[in-house]
Amino acid sequence: MKIALIGYGKMGKAIEEIALQKGHTIGLKIDLGNIADLNIQNLQKCDVAIEFTHPDSVVKNLLTCFDANIPVVCGSTGWLQHLGEVKNKCIELNGSFLYASNFSIGVNIFFELNKYLSKMMNRQKGYDVSIEEIHHTQKKDAPSGTAISLAEQIIGKYTCKKKLDKYITAECK
Ligand SMILES: NC(=O)c1ccc[n+]([C@@H]2O[C@H](COP(=O)([O-])OP(=O)(O)OC[C@H]3O[C@@H](n4cnc5c(N)ncnc54)[C@H](O)[C@@H]3O)[C@@H](O)[C@H]2O)c1
Repeated sequence: MKIALIGYGKMGKAIEEIALQKGHTIGLKIDLGNIADLNIQNLQKCDVAIEFTHPDSVVKNLLTCFDANIPVVCGSTGWLQHLGEVKNKCIELNGSFLYASNFSIGVNIFFELNKYLSKMMNRQKGYDVSIEEIHHTQKKDAPSGTAISLAEQIIGKYTCKKKLDKYITAECK
């Protein structure tokens, strides 16, 4: 496949290395220095876009991919307040979009364990749950997308917790 890499930081570079090893090619590489190259014409020369940039730029980048009618995989975090808008645009334009707050296999196994544990502990009224996380120094968004996913999974299984905003929960009365 010919891949458009949107974001050429730590993740963009790691994805490029793996993609090349697997026999794919990079048709477009976008970073802060050449944002103007992220246009419909250039995107349409690729088969898929992979977006790992910044919370402030991700929505615009995704919408450009939908306009170009190119499938897009997104790993950028910190933008989920716009998820509804992005989903609607994708459906409206019959696009293809995959987002995960964390693509690592280990974390996805942890997600499944978290759901199982939350279901079990929901019945244990003498216990409560909280999340604490430590970030590396260059982290742009806090809480992380991974922590928000964990919180949403917990809320989904605990009958007496509800969502107040993207990550804070409250007990039912
Ligand atoms: N879903 C996952 O599994 C996962 C894993 C790691 C990181 N992330 C998230 O992915 C994002 C990127 O992470 P990273 O570690 O590569 O960060 P990074 O800071 O190393 O790289 C981000 C790159 O995006 C570029 N950029 C910023 N604005 C841009 C724009 N408008 N257009 C194009 N490029 C732009 C920056 O110049 C930088 O090179 C962050 O939101 C991070 O939280 C997700």
